[in-house]
Parts: sequence; C-alpha cells; structure tokens
Amino acid sequence: MDLKYPPKMHFACLPTPVQYLPKLSEAFGGPEIYIKRDDLTGIGLTGNKIRKLEFLFAEAKAQNAELVITCGGVQSNHARATAIAAAKAGLRSHLMLRSSKNEAPDGNLFLDRLVDAEVTFISAEEYQAVDKMMAELADEYAKKNIKAYVIPEGGSNALGAFGYISATAELQEQLSQLGTVVDSVVLALGSGGTQAGLILGTKLLHTKWDVLGFNVCDDAPYFVKRIGKIIQDWRDTFKSNISIEENDIKIVDGYVGKGYGLSSKPELETIKEVARLEGILLDPVYTGKAMFGLKDQISQGRIDKNSKVLFLHTGGIFGLFPKKNLFF
Ligand SMILES: Cc1ncc(COP(=O)(O)O)c(C=O)c1O
Repeated sequence: MDLKYPPKMHFACLPTPVQYLPKLSEAFGGPEIYIKRDDLTGIGLTGNKIRKLEFLFAEAKAQNAELVITCGGVQSNHARATAIAAAKAGLRSHLMLRSSKNEAPDGNLFLDRLVDAEVTFISAEEYQAVDKMMAELADEYAKKNIKAYVIPEGGSNALGAFGYISATAELQEQLSQLGTVVDSVVLALGSGGTQAGLILGTKLLHTKWDVLGFNVCDDAPYFVKRIGKIIQDWRDTFKSNISIEENDIKIVDGYVGKGYGLSSKPELETIKEVARLEGILLDPVYTGKAMFGLKDQISQGRIDKNSKVLFLHTGGIFGLFPKKNLFF
C-alpha cells in the first residue's frame, strides 16, 4: 500500500536489526522468540520515542519553534530523548518532570542536565493537569517572544503514531527477507502511542500478526480507551476511514507488579536472565516488565509454544542505573 507520510527529521539509525534469540527461546521453553532492536535507534537517542520524535520535531521546525516542552516521570526516557533530540535539532527544551523532590541527577535525569534541558519538577497531583500546565508554560514563553512547541506525554498523539506505522513497514520488509512470519508482536505499554502506531500499521499494511501490549501502569480498560483515542485522532487528522475495532486493541494486563517504576524480584531476575543469555539489556520500568510478562504467559500456556513471537525492544537502558542497588 502506498502510504503518504508527513515530513520527518532523521534522528534514528534505521532499520534497527531483527534478531533470533535461540537461548532465550529454549529457556522460556516455547515459541521462537525474535527481537526488534529499537533500543539501537541511536546512542543517547535510544528507544521507541525517537521514531515518534522524528515526525514531531519536523512539525516543530515547520512552525519555527525555538523550544520544545514535554513531560514525564523523573526518569522519563521520552523526556530525555526529547531533550537530546532538541540539542541535535538546535532547539532548547523544557521538561516538566513528576517528582516530589529536587532529584539528584542520575540515569535519564543526568542526561537531561547534560544537554542543558530546563527542568521543572511538579508533584504527582499537579501532574494530573500536566497538559494544561504545558500549555500555560508555552504561553509564558510566547509572552517573551519565544515560540514553543508542546509534545504530549510519550510523544503519543496522531502525528507521533506515524513512527510505528513506518516501523511496521520496516518490520514487514525485514521478516519477508528472513522468510519468517511471526504470530505476535509483544511490547511494553506506557502512554499507548507505540501500540496505536503498530495497530494502525498492521491494518494499513495488512500484516498478519497480533499486537500484544503489556501495560506497565494503569489497566486494560484505561489503555483500550487511551489507544482508541489516539487511533481516532489519527483517523480524523489524516482523513482515513480505516476500520479498527475495540478488540484489535489487545492488552495483556496483570504485570504492573508493585506499580509504575517499582520492581519486583522476578522482574529483576528476568532482566538478568536476558542479559546473561543473550547480551541484551532490558530496563526495569518497561521492557523488563513486558519480558517477565511474556515469560509468564508462555509458562501458563497462554502463548502457543509452537508460535513465533517478536519482542519489540523499546529501549530504556538509562533507567537501569538508578536501580543498580536492587539487583544484587
Ligand atoms: C523504554 C520504553 N519502553 C516502552 C515505552 C512505552 O511506549 P508508549 O509510551 O508509546 O506506550 C516507553 C515510554 O513510555 C519507554 O520509555
């Protein structure tokens, strides 16, 4: 299908590799497990956010923005990626990060500081109105004659969804070259934009796989609604009548564990297992939880042992460092 993409900036090293994980497939005792290495989209610019930011920054530049504003948790990969992308694009960045205190610069926050992002800490309560706060901040900049471009949490909106529509096309081509067909694409779910893009991609490109999102916060009804909204906005904005049903949004709930950003022992053990067997580094907040969920679903027989699964590695490595004391 001839898909028309909006303009984008080129931040990511693409295509990211697709690899077969023989030792992990054996250890999990079931399906053939493949991985798409979106942790290798770049170095500082690692992870899934880069694909969305390529489109969002092109719009920011087209609007002559001088500064980008975004938000997230204090260790937000998205906020860090935005700050580094801003540096690369010659823009300033202002991050609204959720934290009850003035945090020491570790992990992602250290990198935010390194590239000179302006950081405002806001409480969890204030964060509930973060979209309004970011709009007000943009107004304050406007009063100083500085044009700001606001990127929503996770870069998860209609335009950002193109990141994983184009990633679907990339994956389809790679699997066809490998002569492999996968039954499902598995990923961690935080703000829903990656899964929204992947679902749109599967519909637009008629791929055969299911997209299974493991939520790392909230619950399945919340994400069905949130992803449904991004898809609806995409259809409205880009004038598409593509049909997507609620049951196309497949969420595997039950792996939030102790809560967002909090790790349990089996999750940390899974991160160690994958590092030691395959030399692949997962993160504690997103990919570690999703991989633990995948392992558990296989052991419960909920994922067919004869199927083929592709795990989308969405990055997050810098989130490992602030958690190092939990591992040993
Ligand atoms: C490493 C990592 N994986 C997965 C996700 C989830 O992606 P999304 O917010 O598009 O659901 C995020 C961000 O939230 C992330 O930083």
